[in-house]
Amino acid sequence: MKMREIKKNIFKGGAIDWDRRLFDSLIPLPDGTSYNAYLIKGSEKTVLLDSVDPAMTHILLEQLKTVSHLDYIISHHAEQDHSGSIPVLIEKYPGAKVIASEKGKGMLVDHLCIPEDKIIAFKDGETLSLGDRTIKVISTPWVHWPETISTYIPEDEILFSCDFFGSHLATSELYVDDTSQVYEAAKRYYAEIMMPFRTIIKKNLEKLSGYSIKMIAPSHGPVYNEPDFIIDAYKDWISDKVKNLVVIPYVSMHGSTQRMVEYINHSLAEKNIEVRQFNLPVTDLGKLAISLVDAATIIIGTPTVHVGPHPVALNAANLTNALRPKLQFASIIGSYGWNSKMVEKISDMIPNLKVEILEPVLCRGYPREQDFDKLENLARSIETRHKQLNIL
Ligand code: FEO
Repeated sequence: MKMREIKKNIFKGGAIDWDRRLFDSLIPLPDGTSYNAYLIKGSEKTVLLDSVDPAMTHILLEQLKTVSHLDYIISHHAEQDHSGSIPVLIEKYPGAKVIASEKGKGMLVDHLCIPEDKIIAFKDGETLSLGDRTIKVISTPWVHWPETISTYIPEDEILFSCDFFGSHLATSELYVDDTSQVYEAAKRYYAEIMMPFRTIIKKNLEKLSGYSIKMIAPSHGPVYNEPDFIIDAYKDWISDKVKNLVVIPYVSMHGSTQRMVEYINHSLAEKNIEVRQFNLPVTDLGKLAISLVDAATIIIGTPTVHVGPHPVALNAANLTNALRPKLQFASIIGSYGWNSKMVEKISDMIPNLKVEILEPVLCRGYPREQDFDKLENLARSIETRHKQLNIL
């Protein structure tokens, strides 16, 4: 597909990766993704913003076939899905200089082996004149690496935000068309890599509030020509507000933990508490991450394996800890055969979660009446806590 104009002499190019189903070898991408690059032809200088994943370099080269000269390549973020083609581009355009933040410069040298003298480090607020247009560098760290910058063109009021505000969505649409689809894809992306940096993102949003933004052009997914849609979504996700939602990631081997999960799920639902249950061996971890953006409470369900939690549950606990969601309450339920230290082991794995641990419920073998009573008590504790937070 050729580059397409989003403003006079500003073109969106890059590659749509319809087939990609896993990112960072961890998180599923049910709807693929894209690696967007933007070409800006100023009256005096021509600039490319970002490149594409190395596997798709040939697509970008095809798009640039008629571009005989590049003055600059701006690298907003050194991760390879955006910077991976830069080494090939600087061979094609030997006169081009790469612009990045100071930290980005070091990372481009480390990760892409780009010669240091090819890279110019720009400071926060520094501008580059293209003649009839200006590009202003805005430092927006930790979305999701420390070096990341956004750029802004005041003449057109466009923000190029790289991963920030992006969505893992393969679509031939230039602009956001189906907002519910893009909302889900952007929330998945936020959940997977932005959520741990919620506090810093809040500062980045405050910083951007000083700019008039008519369009946001991210490096994944379609362009936002009504940017309030995604800015408002981010404001909600990074807020301290939690929702009346209990997330239950669980695994069961012979049905005992499954029965406990079913019981507490129904009990919570009867109390008008929303529950999302994720059977970990077959679940989409991205869906779990999305639910963790808003949930007030998590209950991890696991049988005991070799005295500790099932390894799949450990993985989910570890991931949840790494994502640092704004959960307020947590508990653990599950079964054991003869002995269990799974509560201690899971508790040790979630130091990043600032949660109150509600009394775990472990049962020996298949759950019976006394176990259901304990699960009922746990459901009541959650109901009380959610009422205290005024979310129920
Ligand atoms: Fe899309 Fe952090 O790379």
